[in-house]
Amino acid sequence: LNATSILSNYENAKIELEEYIENKKKEVNPRFRPLYHVAPPVGWMNDPNGFSFHNGEFHLFYQFYPYDSVWGPMHWGHVSSPDLVHWKQLPTALLPEKEQCFSGSAISQENGLTLMYTGRVAIDVEPYFNETQYLAFSDDGINFYKYDGNPVLSRAPNGSPDFRDPKIWMYEDYYYVVIGSQTTDKRGRVLLYKSSDMKSWNFLSVLGESNGDMGYMWECPDFFELDGKFVLLMSPQGLEPQGDRYKNTHQTGYIIGNFNYDTNEFEQEVAFQEIDFGHDFYAATTTEVNGKRYLIGWFSMWDEPHPEDVDGWAGMATLVRELRIVGSRITMQPVEEIVTLRNQIVLDSDIEPNQILVFGKAVELIINSDINQKVDLLLEGRKGGSKAWLRWDPETRKVTIDRGSGDIRQVEWYPNGSIHWQIFLDTSSLELFCGEGEVVFSSRVYALGGWKLTNESNQTVHIKANSLKRSTP
Ligand code: FRU
Repeated sequence: LNATSILSNYENAKIELEEYIENKKKEVNPRFRPLYHVAPPVGWMNDPNGFSFHNGEFHLFYQFYPYDSVWGPMHWGHVSSPDLVHWKQLPTALLPEKEQCFSGSAISQENGLTLMYTGRVAIDVEPYFNETQYLAFSDDGINFYKYDGNPVLSRAPNGSPDFRDPKIWMYEDYYYVVIGSQTTDKRGRVLLYKSSDMKSWNFLSVLGESNGDMGYMWECPDFFELDGKFVLLMSPQGLEPQGDRYKNTHQTGYIIGNFNYDTNEFEQEVAFQEIDFGHDFYAATTTEVNGKRYLIGWFSMWDEPHPEDVDGWAGMATLVRELRIVGSRITMQPVEEIVTLRNQIVLDSDIEPNQILVFGKAVELIINSDINQKVDLLLEGRKGGSKAWLRWDPETRKVTIDRGSGDIRQVEWYPNGSIHWQIFLDTSSLELFCGEGEVVFSSRVYALGGWKLTNESNQTVHIKANSLKRSTP
C-alpha cells in the first residue's frame, strides 16, 4: 500500500486536479490577465461565492470549471487575502460529484469555516434538474469535506425546481438563509429560512417577490443591514430593458427597506435599483467585518463574448467595494486598502484637448474637470484590443461608457459632494467610480500592450495617475 491508496476517490481527484491546474497554468496566454483582480488560474469562473472573514483572513470562492474556458460542471475555486487587495490562490475547495456545486456562501465559526451551496443534480424527468442545499465543513479554512447528511434543505414551499444560491448569516444564536427561487407562475422571489444547527431548516417568509415586471428568477440573493436599513441584493433574470436601464443580459440590484426579526417581514421602502451601471457585472455578494460591508461581483456577463477564452481562461471578479447608504441609494467606494497598490505617481497635470497619454497595464486615474462642460475621454489599448469612451454631459447629467457600435451604458449622476472620477484600469477591465461612489461602472475593455488615453473633450482635464502594483497570482 502506498500513502495515496488509502485516500478516498474524492481526495485523489482533488490532488489530480491541483496537478492539472499547475501544469495547465503554464499554457495560459497572459496578454489579458488581470494584475490586481481575482481571476481563475485556468478555465472558467462566474459568480463569487462564500465571501467571508475567517481566522484573520478574507476568503473568496467562485464558480469554477477548470477544464475549459466555458461554463461546465461547477467546482468552487478559492483565494484568500489579508486585506481584500492582495490575493493568493488556494486549492479548489469543492469538486462536483453526483451534484454540481452551484453558488452559495460561507459562515465563519470558532471551529471552522462552513460552506452552504446548492447541489444541482441531473434527473431523468422534466425539468431535468433538482436543486437542494448542501453543507461542507473545514477545520483549517482550506480543506473542505462535504457533510454526509446532505442535502440539508430540499424543497421550496411551492416545489419550484429553481431553488438556489443560499446566503447564510447568524443573528442572535440562530442561522438564517435566503435562497433565490420562483413563484409557480414564474416570477422571481427570495425565500427566508431559519435554523438552530444549519442541518434542519424552517421556512419563515417570502422576503421579496417580483410583481410581474421584475423578472422570472431572482438569483444570488443577499440580505443585510446597512446604515440602519435592510438591503435585499439580488440578480434578477428577465427584466425588460427600459430606456438606459436593464441593458445587460441579466441585472444586479437592490431594494432598501425595513426588516423585523419577529415578524420576518421585509417592508420595501425604495424600489429596485441597479447597483452597478457597467456592461459586465453580475451575481454580486457581500460580507461584513468590523462594521464595514464589502461587496464583490462577477466582472463578466452571461451570453456575451469573453475574448480571453482563447487564452485559456475566462471571467474575473471586480475590485472589492465598501457599501454605504446615502439618501435612497447605495454608494460603492473601492476598498480603502487599494491605496497600498499605488506604485508611483506617473502624472499630475492639466491635459489639453487632443492630448494623448500612454500608461502601463495597471493604472489608477483621478480625473478632475469643470463639471459644467462636457468631458469625452477615449481609452484604448496601446497595441490594439478594444476601446471605450467615457463621457459626461452637463445638460443631460449623464455619465456614459461607450464601447463603440452602440454598446453604451449610461446613467444620470448627481454628485453627493466631490466631483472627481476615480478610474481603475487593469489589463482587460475598467472600473469608474464617480464622486463618492454614487455611480459606478464595471466594464471589460481589452487593452493590448497597456493603455492609451486621448482627451477628446473641448476642455482641459486634470489627470493624476498612479501606476499600480501586481497583487493577484
Ligand atoms: C448565477 C448562477 C447561479 C448558479 C450559478 C451556476 O450566475 O446562474 O444562480 O448557482 O450561476 O454556475
